[in-house]
Amino acid sequence: MTLVACVLAAGRGTRMRSDVPKVLQPLAHKPLLGHVLEIVEALGADDTVIVYGHGGDAVQSAFASTDLKWALQADQLGTGHALQQAMPQIADNTRVLVLCGDVPLLTQASLQRLLASTPDDAVGVLSVAMDDPTGYGRIIRDDHDSVIRIVEQKDGDANELAVREINSGVFVLPSTPLRRWLDALSPQNTQGEYYLTDVVGLAVAEGIAVHGVLADSFEETMGINDRVQLAAAERVYQTRVVEQLMRDGARVADPGRVDIRGDVRVGKDVFIDINAVFEGEVMLEDGVHIGPNCVIRNATLGAGTQVHANSLIDDATLGRACQIGPFARLRPGSQLADKAKVGNFVEIKKAQIGKGSKVNHLTYIGDATIGEDVNVGAGTITCNYDGANKHQTVIGDGAFIGSGVELVAPVEVGAGATIAAGSTITRGAADGSLTVARARQKTIEGWQRPVKNKK
Ligand code: UD1
Ligand code: CA
Repeated sequence: MTLVACVLAAGRGTRMRSDVPKVLQPLAHKPLLGHVLEIVEALGADDTVIVYGHGGDAVQSAFASTDLKWALQADQLGTGHALQQAMPQIADNTRVLVLCGDVPLLTQASLQRLLASTPDDAVGVLSVAMDDPTGYGRIIRDDHDSVIRIVEQKDGDANELAVREINSGVFVLPSTPLRRWLDALSPQNTQGEYYLTDVVGLAVAEGIAVHGVLADSFEETMGINDRVQLAAAERVYQTRVVEQLMRDGARVADPGRVDIRGDVRVGKDVFIDINAVFEGEVMLEDGVHIGPNCVIRNATLGAGTQVHANSLIDDATLGRACQIGPFARLRPGSQLADKAKVGNFVEIKKAQIGKGSKVNHLTYIGDATIGEDVNVGAGTITCNYDGANKHQTVIGDGAFIGSGVELVAPVEVGAGATIAAGSTITRGAADGSLTVARARQKTIEGWQRPVKNKK
């Protein structure tokens, strides 16, 4: 039978106290709704309908590129009313998997089990037992342990609220009777809303079985209503991805002090020290070493490369056995060949550093191509910007740039050329030459320092 996933994402998210719609709040730098859609994609639903409403334009444009159907819920009258808005886009004789835009950590295993344990014409609800079920809807079962209805926190009596099995908000339902049940909902409850959860009681009244299927863990069913729950979910997510990294072969100094906001792939024997933050797509090949307090974003690091403490690598490609930092900054477009070294307080931007070349201290290299085995001395600056345009600096293989040199681009330094310390180079230097471009030193004998006037 066709399976349509329907994601409820129209709620206001009042408890977030934010101008950003709840389903766009970030978990590991990705909107909550993005996590839910990833779950749906992995599950392979035939179609996906998103019910949107509050902050609608922002929600739609955040997922504009993907192949999704949208249903507008102009007024947020409850979860049952939300699902009803999607029904015109869902055919009869279809299974509808309902997910919430604020429940982002579900595992494939639990969802597959929910689908497998619920016959096509029955109702399934994913539940879980919680030590503290406060805030969630409670699953009420009869003496035979059959699910008979769901009671919301605000509507329950003491006996009902003592139940620890809760509704995760995830259901699978047959579309034909579902249409009828949704039409029959009434807002006669404490919140004056059309509750999707009341569908359970309506199904039972018609003699249709409701299967309560337990999720593997409470963590995966966490619903995010406020920022405290958002932070708790972030920890659950981080623990999951860091554990996967360790299984893939990384040694992590402290799994609680690494943050992964994107996709990190690792080779064997990678080491990650404390407070590393990874963003976007990151590849760490065999034996890469990441020192403490580093930020690595959209980068590939070749085997054996070492990044020392407090370095930032952003949109860069590094070869094998490079040495970076401490305190280095590689900005977008930095490309380092094998065995390149970029040391402390060095900034690199849109530049290629050739094999074995060294840029070790207090230097800015921007819009440049540096050949192999070049030595760039301390305090060297490529003057790449004239106030209007950027210009290129090219340095040939084996060149030696003395300390404190300014290379005023566009400028070219030939292979094997030597630039004397303190030079300001404006016209380039030929292959193999020595270029000195600084005032000659002079000494004034018998010169007197000024003395202070007497008061
Ligand atoms: C809901 C369930 C509760 C369950 C909990 C699990 C109901 C009545 N209650 O409570 O049993 O334990 O989820 O996390 O279903 N939404 C809309 N339109 C609306 C209202 C809500 O699209 O008019 C969406 C929200 O964006 C959210 C989801 O539905 O993604 C759940 O709504 P929320 O208000 O968070 O429900 P809970 O009080 O958490
Ligand atoms: Ca919720």
